[in-house]
Amino acid sequence: MQMNWLNLALFCGLAAGHAAFVVALINRLHALPLPLAILHRSRQLHDLVIVILPALFAWYAGVKGPALFLNDEGWHRLPVALLAYLAVCAVVALAVPPVAIVRRLRKPALQLSNHSRMIDVAAELGYRPVGSGPYRIFTCFPGNEFLKLDVSDKEFEVPQLAPEWDGLSILHLSDLHFTGTIDRPYFERVAEIAESMPVDLVVFTGDLLDREDLVEWLPATLGRLSAPLGCHFVLGNHDSYLTNTAEIRARLEQLGWHDLAGRSQVVEHAGKPLVLCGSEMPWMGTQPDLSSAPPGAFRLLVSHTPDNLTWARRHGINLMLAGHNHGGQVRLPLFGPVYSPSISGARYACGAFWESPTLMYVSRGISGRHPLRLNCPPELTRLILRPAAYSPRIEGAMQVRNDQRVAATTSHGSPQR
Ligand SMILES: [Fe+2]
Repeated sequence: MQMNWLNLALFCGLAAGHAAFVVALINRLHALPLPLAILHRSRQLHDLVIVILPALFAWYAGVKGPALFLNDEGWHRLPVALLAYLAVCAVVALAVPPVAIVRRLRKPALQLSNHSRMIDVAAELGYRPVGSGPYRIFTCFPGNEFLKLDVSDKEFEVPQLAPEWDGLSILHLSDLHFTGTIDRPYFERVAEIAESMPVDLVVFTGDLLDREDLVEWLPATLGRLSAPLGCHFVLGNHDSYLTNTAEIRARLEQLGWHDLAGRSQVVEHAGKPLVLCGSEMPWMGTQPDLSSAPPGAFRLLVSHTPDNLTWARRHGINLMLAGHNHGGQVRLPLFGPVYSPSISGARYACGAFWESPTLMYVSRGISGRHPLRLNCPPELTRLILRPAAYSPRIEGAMQVRNDQRVAATTSHGSPQR
């Protein structure tokens, strides 16, 4: 009896499609405000399902039963429901590579320049700062970039930015995830680097702690930072799983940080108002009320998840900074970002996106609950804003933006995304 290599190759393609389909489902599930126990169970189940179902199929249909790996025929002997699922897997397997290539080739929206340098924090320290937290096994994975840091200066042309604000700079940090696995010296070095980058404004977009006792790390990390327009934060879904978020907020405020969760505030820069607002939806609080925002003022939304983009567009947000998706944490060739817990999957895993009237920048973040980063290093970014020069695409976008701003003033204060 000879091996049917074609059927074996088909099986491998279908197994890849099955894995991509399961990951897509798990990403959408993790975008929802579900209890942590359900999310953990679903993640464990997904590990099993990705491996066990293809193994069972290979045994019962590939070797036994219709023996697809040994015969020329046999697919028709499979149950209709299984054939339907295999068709879904086939569609996913065929769709994933072109989607990944298109995303890979996509240029960051409205980005004028990018200057990056990769810092190997472990090499600088002279040792690997790995503590006794969970998932230590991942730190041994070959090629893991979890102790590196991509420090970037990115310039963007921003519609509606006042000419007086040319060069306005924002330091964006996200997803520190203090778990104890990546030890404190790594984060202190990140803070030291951040402190050496002069900016007008500092923003943290959530997921600070996975262990409440590590709030003690804050003075030596985020507590070191300051800026003329202040340091502003929201918390993330991982913070929401802790028992005392009020204590975390209080500690950050003692260190001079401003809590933007579900609220807005106005600061003046070069004689013009800047509206700062924040969102921890869908995990905590409500969306900010912009009813008292000065008309025509530039609006900056600090959001944990990029999934608040729809709300941002509806409310005339000019610039939205987000994190949460960690860039996918693992980026595979022909697949792209893997774990991106968003209702849009990996679409907004990281980078800059222009969806009129909002420019959204999504950080890959600095860490993660799982200390695994493959082809997706941690990120610390300084955004430098430039007024948008005239161009048809911007002018068209601004017209849409103005129309939506009018709509927003009639629907402000909605707690819904
Ligand atoms: Fe996170």
